[in-house]
Amino acid sequence: MVNKIRKAVFPAAGLGTRFLPATKSSPKEMLPLVDKPLIQYVVEESVASGVESILIITGRDKSAIENHFDISFELEQLLKERNKLDLFDQVRAISDIAQISYTRQKQALGLGHAIYQAKDFVGSEPFAALLADDIVDSEIPALQQMVEVYERYDAPVIATMQVDGEDISRFGVIDAEEVEPNVFKIRDMVEKPPFAEAPSNLAIIGRYIFTPDIFEAIEQTKPGSGGEIQITDAMRILLQKRPFYAVKLKGTRHDAGDKLGFLIATVELALKREDLGGEFREYLRSLDLG
Ligand code: G1P
Repeated sequence: MVNKIRKAVFPAAGLGTRFLPATKSSPKEMLPLVDKPLIQYVVEESVASGVESILIITGRDKSAIENHFDISFELEQLLKERNKLDLFDQVRAISDIAQISYTRQKQALGLGHAIYQAKDFVGSEPFAALLADDIVDSEIPALQQMVEVYERYDAPVIATMQVDGEDISRFGVIDAEEVEPNVFKIRDMVEKPPFAEAPSNLAIIGRYIFTPDIFEAIEQTKPGSGGEIQITDAMRILLQKRPFYAVKLKGTRHDAGDKLGFLIATVELALKREDLGGEFREYLRSLDLG
C-alpha cells in the first residue's frame, strides 16, 4: 500500500511581476477569475483530490490570502442579519475547506527554495505541490489524475502538457518515454531551455507529487535559471536515484499569472457559468471585433 497524499504545499511568495501594477500590494494568488481568487481554485482542486492539510508559503504583503481562508466574523454576521444565507454558506465553506497553515519564505530565491520551506510540515510523507498560477479546468481534478498514477507506480509524479513552438522555453521541459497512454517515465528534464535545445514539446505544469527525499535534493541544488534554486534542477538530481513519472493532463490549462492567459481564463470560465454564461455570451456576440 502506498502512502496516501494528505498534505499539499502552495508556494505563494512570488512577487507577481508579470501582473504589475495589480500585484504591487496585493498577492497575485488573490486575483479573481470571475469571482473566486486563483488560490481558491487550486486549494479546492487539492481537496477534491484527497488533500486534508495545506501549507501556504507566503511572503510580505500576502496577508490577504490568510484572511481569505479565515472566518470573517463581521461579514458572516451581516449576511445572517440580511438573511443572505446562500452567501453565508459560500463564505463559511471557504474557511472550513481544509486545515491550512502558513509559513514565510523570507527571500524570493526560487521555487525549489520555496518548496524547501515545507520540510518540517511534510515530515516523512509524500506530498503535493501546486502553483496557483496554473489553473487547470478539467472534469477529473488535475491533482487527482496524478494521484492515480502515483498510486500505481509508487513514485513521484509531475504534470505535463504539450506546448508547441517557441513558448516551450517558458517552462520546465521533460525528455520522457510514454509507458502507457498519457503516462511518461522521465529520462531527463531542463528548466526553461532555449527553443532549439528543448528535449521535447512536453512542458512541466505547476502540479507535483513528491516524496520527502526531494528536500535533500533541494539542499544539493545550485542556483540555476534566473539565478534561482529551481525545483526542476532538484528533481533532476533525484532522478539519478529514483524513477519519476509525468502525466499528460486531460483538461485545459490556463496561465492565470500572465495578463493574456488571465483574460482567456476569465472569458472561458465565465462562459461556463450557469448564472453569467448566457448573458456574457450574448455580449461577446454583440462585439464588433473587426
Ligand atoms: C515554474 C517551474 C517550471 C514550470 C512552470 C509551470 O516556472 O519552474 O518548470 O514549467 O512553473 O507553470 P515559473 O512559471 O514559476 O517561472
